[in-house]
Amino acid sequence: MATILVTDDEANIRNHLASYMQSLGHEVETAEDGVGALAAVGRRRFDLVFSDVRMARMDGLKLLAEIVRRAPETTVVLMTAYATVAQAVEAIRVGAYDYLVKPFGLDQVDTVLGRVLELQTLRRENRRLRAAAGESPILTSENRAMQQELDTARRAAPSDAVVLLTGESGTGKTVLARQIHDWSRRANGPFVTIACTTLAEHLLESELFGHVRGAFTGAHKDKAGRVEAAAGGTLFLDEVGELPLELQGKLLRLVEEHCFERVGATTTATVDTRVIAATNRALERDIAAGRFREDLFFRLNVIGIRLPPLRERPEDLDALVDHLLARLAARDRRTALCLAPDARAILHAYAWPGNVRELANALERAAVLTRGDEIEAEDLPDRLHAPPGAATDSATGSLEDLEKRHIERVLAESTTLEEAAARLGIDVTTLWRKRKRYRLDW
Ligand SMILES: Nc1ncnc2c1ncn2[C@@H]1O[C@H](COP(=O)(O)OP(=O)(O)OP(=O)(O)O)[C@@H](O)[C@H]1O
Ligand SMILES: [Mg+2]
Repeated sequence: MATILVTDDEANIRNHLASYMQSLGHEVETAEDGVGALAAVGRRRFDLVFSDVRMARMDGLKLLAEIVRRAPETTVVLMTAYATVAQAVEAIRVGAYDYLVKPFGLDQVDTVLGRVLELQTLRRENRRLRAAAGESPILTSENRAMQQELDTARRAAPSDAVVLLTGESGTGKTVLARQIHDWSRRANGPFVTIACTTLAEHLLESELFGHVRGAFTGAHKDKAGRVEAAAGGTLFLDEVGELPLELQGKLLRLVEEHCFERVGATTTATVDTRVIAATNRALERDIAAGRFREDLFFRLNVIGIRLPPLRERPEDLDALVDHLLARLAARDRRTALCLAPDARAILHAYAWPGNVRELANALERAAVLTRGDEIEAEDLPDRLHAPPGAATDSATGSLEDLEKRHIERVLAESTTLEEAAARLGIDVTTLWRKRKRYRLDW
């Protein structure tokens, strides 16, 4: 059973539709126009709103926009006798789920109802499973600065505003980008990530925007890019600071006008996607050095969110540790893991240059090494035991020692070997060899 609101200025249609859906067992309310509907939406949560487009006072498109903003989880289906393609496209772009052209039959209503209810069941199930697996991140904080940033993220999520996430590596930018998508009305659309670091410039453009057949050697057929794959959803540009200047101009156009061209194409395409960007570089410095376009920075930074490093929010450490341990236990289907007091003290004394990722990696390693269900100090990586500053203290160690420690740290901060190699500026086989040599291959 669902809660449904029917909005139409024609009493006939309103009542007919309402009594039909009531007869199916749904709980139905009605409103005569957008203003009445909005008042109802303010009073309670609806699963589904059917709304006429042309109405006195507030029309259906305005109502739709308001619902998207205030109740993003409510699905809206518009009904209109004046169907035009442009209006349909506009409505879907603004966030309508579907469009019914009047006059429509009850069988069409059944189809829409069936799809919407199934979608909502799936959405709920998905949320439940993710929460049960402990996969959902921690989105609360005891730290003032972090609270404010999370609050901004929550408030910006339902809109289509561009978001720029900044913060050191491992602070949770990717996690938050995904969460903003999940909070938005695009949650059921795709979330497409493009890592601006991983590809050569000419490949990156085609990866992003796609290409047409014959655009370059090897382009045997037309290919859509990631931008098109993100239609109806969110495009996440990770490490946007690494984007070559030429592509920065094209990205600016995409963000401003939603237009782009496939490589080699003579026609311009448009796409409906929300852009979230992230960087761990100080873009201001890149701007000063002429490596990053200032206009793009301002356009991306409409909603700027800065994730503080872990060492600046020590009050969150315990909650993060418990959460990460619960997640590991759930993943490995083992009984709850806990932390011995001296091990916890060590975690508190450490500066976490690799932030939450480093913490997650250290705990994962410890969970493997521990003999019982209690993680002890000796299960934690050596570098955590060193006195503060020792990990970066170069005056005493040999060059080899320094290299070893540096590699060890980057490995701890990275999720994959490829990522670590990229950061170290060496290729994966070299990293592989060095890991063996320094016995870092745990
Ligand atoms: N709020 C959180 N709740 C739970 N886990 C988190 C949270 N934030 C970060 N993590 C953990 O830390 C890891 C790193 O986070 P994430 O990948 O979002 O960092 P990042 O800022 O994008 O780093 P980079 O700049 O290197 O891409 C995640 O895989 C996750 O395990
Ligand atoms: Mg990331």
